[in-house]
Amino acid sequence: MCGIIGYIGTQRAAPLIIDGLKNLEYRGYDSAGIAVLQTSELFVKKDTGKIAEVFSEKDLETIEGNIGIAHSRWATHGGVTKENSHPHLSNDGNTAVVHNGIIENYQELRKFLTENGFVFKSQTDTEVIPNLIQYFMQQGTSFMDSIKLAVKKLEGSYALAIINKNAKKLVAIRKESPLVIGVADHGYFVASDVPSFLDQTKKVVYLYENDMAVLNDKMEFFNIKDNLPVVRKIDNIEWNVEQAKKGNFEHFMLKEISEQADAIKLAISQDEKQIKEVADAIMHAKGIYFVACGTSYHACLSASYKFAKLANKHVNVALASEFPNYKDFIVPDSLVIALSQSGETADVLEAVKAAKEKGARVISLVNVVGSSLTRYSDETLMQNAGPEICVLATKSYTSQLAILTLLAYALAGKYEEGKNKLKELVNSIYYLTSTNTREHIKQLAERLRYVNHIYLIGRDLQYPTAMEAALKIKEVSYIHAEGFAGGELKHGTIALIEPGTPCIVFTSSENEKKILSNATELKARGAYIIGVGPNNNELFDFFIKVRESGEANSICQIIPIQILAYQLAILRGCDPDKPRNLAKSVTVK
Ligand code: G6P
Repeated sequence: MCGIIGYIGTQRAAPLIIDGLKNLEYRGYDSAGIAVLQTSELFVKKDTGKIAEVFSEKDLETIEGNIGIAHSRWATHGGVTKENSHPHLSNDGNTAVVHNGIIENYQELRKFLTENGFVFKSQTDTEVIPNLIQYFMQQGTSFMDSIKLAVKKLEGSYALAIINKNAKKLVAIRKESPLVIGVADHGYFVASDVPSFLDQTKKVVYLYENDMAVLNDKMEFFNIKDNLPVVRKIDNIEWNVEQAKKGNFEHFMLKEISEQADAIKLAISQDEKQIKEVADAIMHAKGIYFVACGTSYHACLSASYKFAKLANKHVNVALASEFPNYKDFIVPDSLVIALSQSGETADVLEAVKAAKEKGARVISLVNVVGSSLTRYSDETLMQNAGPEICVLATKSYTSQLAILTLLAYALAGKYEEGKNKLKELVNSIYYLTSTNTREHIKQLAERLRYVNHIYLIGRDLQYPTAMEAALKIKEVSYIHAEGFAGGELKHGTIALIEPGTPCIVFTSSENEKKILSNATELKARGAYIIGVGPNNNELFDFFIKVRESGEANSICQIIPIQILAYQLAILRGCDPDKPRNLAKSVTVK
């Protein structure tokens, strides 16, 4: 998703914001640009491509000016072109805007502005914003008041950073899109996410919905709805720059895969009282809905099995984007549990808002402190998995699973047993992420690097694992992969199995016979069978041993496939940290 960064202070803005933009690369983007306030003009440079291609070393050294904004764009309205890249300028060239989000009524606004003589250079929704500001300024309104009037006309979601040629200030506004202020010794930053400026400061101010921050030599905050000042406190970020950097690892993906044992340790040091309270809320709710997208959705599916098996509790699971279909069943006694590692996924926020309108209680499980979902929820369990920079969710997924497992045990009145079970996993996870395991899986990656399709099957708790494993392979290696319930493949998809088709089979002691019988059906059609589980079998052409851990199999069994996906990406020349077309947090619906 689009990334925003801005700076105002005593240092040159360009190197700081271009560097900050690079730290936001993980969000996914296709073009980049900056606008810097120079003595009598706004210097603008933008283009399609990687940040390092758009800006040269010389740019970093030569672009003067202490106030600037920058943007990495993930195209929504209009193709990937230089003209559609941000910043966007007003027709008079005086105001520059970077934007993350969607202006839903932009066509109407564009028509209004065109009728008033404005000309548009891009197909974006964003370009209406600087022009609306110019429109109001032309009526004699001040820059600040024009921003307020312009924003009142916008429908949709927006995180904005705005500068004007004649104003020594940086203005930031947030509505349904993330934005955070960094407070450094030498000035202020505004950014979509903390890693952007973390090497400059660990002091942050999280903006609330409808907040406007006005930054110059001080910072002031207003609510854009009623224009009244609001007080926002400075928080300290607890994780350090190293955690958000690659260290000795070649890619964030591998680093984060390798951090999973530690992430599990942190997940199980959850506040016992809070876990028990949430378990109690689940126990007494009338209708429980788990909602999420992507990988977090797979964690929800896994949770539904864990709750059923361990605590005899039925929960509904819904893709956040499909949640409106359930809305008529939501009553004030319903409980919605929203999972989102980023806490910013627009579909999840939308689902949660709909649930709140019906009076339901919302509890969320989130990794990013200060994210929007934490504010929309009545209560939040923090994952504490540390920053996850790679677009693919790895440690945030297993950390979600660990907390959900703990919750299921708590619901069954066996909190301690659950905690001990998870503690026992830690050594297995160290082993699964070790060089030995990685070398073993590399042989498989070499075998699979040129295939076009991979099918994955699992039963019970291994079914969501098969789905998540398929997603990992697809996202990063671009090999088509599909996960099925073991019993389901024969109802159609088995038609696609040919001699040599790779099929990954997740097994567990509990369902070994049944899943092996499904594997036999595949083998009979010539499939190349890869077994992942506690016991090797003559059916398997390749075997990855993962010790049996009952309900916690879901945590351990995904790890070898995360590694496989990573290695396939490397062998196929794909960038594991920045897969094409994907974004870390999808802040549009
Ligand atoms: C995007 C990412 C996925 C992620 C999904 C949900 O689509 O590319 O990897 O699983 O969002 O993200 P969340 O932050 O809500 O867990």
